[in-house]
Amino acid sequence: MASGGGAAPDSSPGSVGSMNAIEALLGRNSAPRLEAPGPDAGQLDTICRAALRAADHALLRPWRFLIVRGESRRKLGELFVAASLESAPEMTVAEQDRLRGKTLRAPLIIVVIASHREHPGVPGIEQDLSAGAAAQNMLNAAHALGLGAMWRTGSMAYHPRVKRGFGLGGEEKIIGFVYLGTISGKAKTLREEDPADYFADWPA
Ligand SMILES: Cc1cc2nc3c(=O)[nH]c(=O)nc-3n(C[C@H](O)[C@H](O)[C@H](O)COP(=O)(O)O)c2cc1C
Repeated sequence: MASGGGAAPDSSPGSVGSMNAIEALLGRNSAPRLEAPGPDAGQLDTICRAALRAADHALLRPWRFLIVRGESRRKLGELFVAASLESAPEMTVAEQDRLRGKTLRAPLIIVVIASHREHPGVPGIEQDLSAGAAAQNMLNAAHALGLGAMWRTGSMAYHPRVKRGFGLGGEEKIIGFVYLGTISGKAKTLREEDPADYFADWPA
C-alpha cells in the first residue's frame, strides 16, 4: 500500500493505535486514485461509527447510508448510464463506457443520504449539514486508518433516476458518494493554507 503519510495505524475498530487525531485532521487528503483492498470489516465498522458521531441538532439522525461494493458497483455504473441516457440520449458508446467505469474507481462506495425529519427548530439545511459532517467524519476516519477516501457528487448525485434507483424518498437527497480504498500511487501533496486568510477577530 502506498503511504498516506503519518504513522502506520492499527486498523482495529476504535483502536487507540490509530493515527493521532490532530495529526489525522491536519494531514487528511483526498485520494482520487484508489484500488483494492477496500476497508476490512473492522475498518468499515470504525468508519461507519465515525459517521454517526457527526454533530446533529436535536439528535434527529437525519441520514442514512448505502454501501456499494463488489459487483454492485457495476449495477451502479449501469444506473448512471441509464440516468444519463434519459437526459442525454445522444451519448456516445465511449461516453457511456467512461461513465460506467466511474463506479469502479474504488473498491467500496458509501452513498450518504440526507433524510430530513420534521422538527420545528431544525431546518432542512441543518440536516443536510449534519449529513455532510457525517461524510467528513468518514473521510477523517478513513485517513486515520491509513486508507484513501474521496467525496464526490457530480450530476449523478442529483439525477431523479439515480435517486429512484437507490430507493430515495421524495424529500431525501444524496449528499455525496464517499469512495474508499487503498491509495494507489503517491498520496497527493497537501495544500498549504494560512488560517489568517480565513479567520479574523471580530470586531477587527
Ligand atoms: C459536496 C462535495 C462534492 C464534491 N464532489 C466532487 C466531485 O464530484 N469530483 C471531484 O473531483 N471532487 C469533488 N469534491 C472535492 C473533493 O472531494 C476534494 O475535497 C478536493 O479534491 C480537494 O481535495 P482535498 O480534500 O484533499 O483538499 C467534492 C467535495 C465536496 C465537499
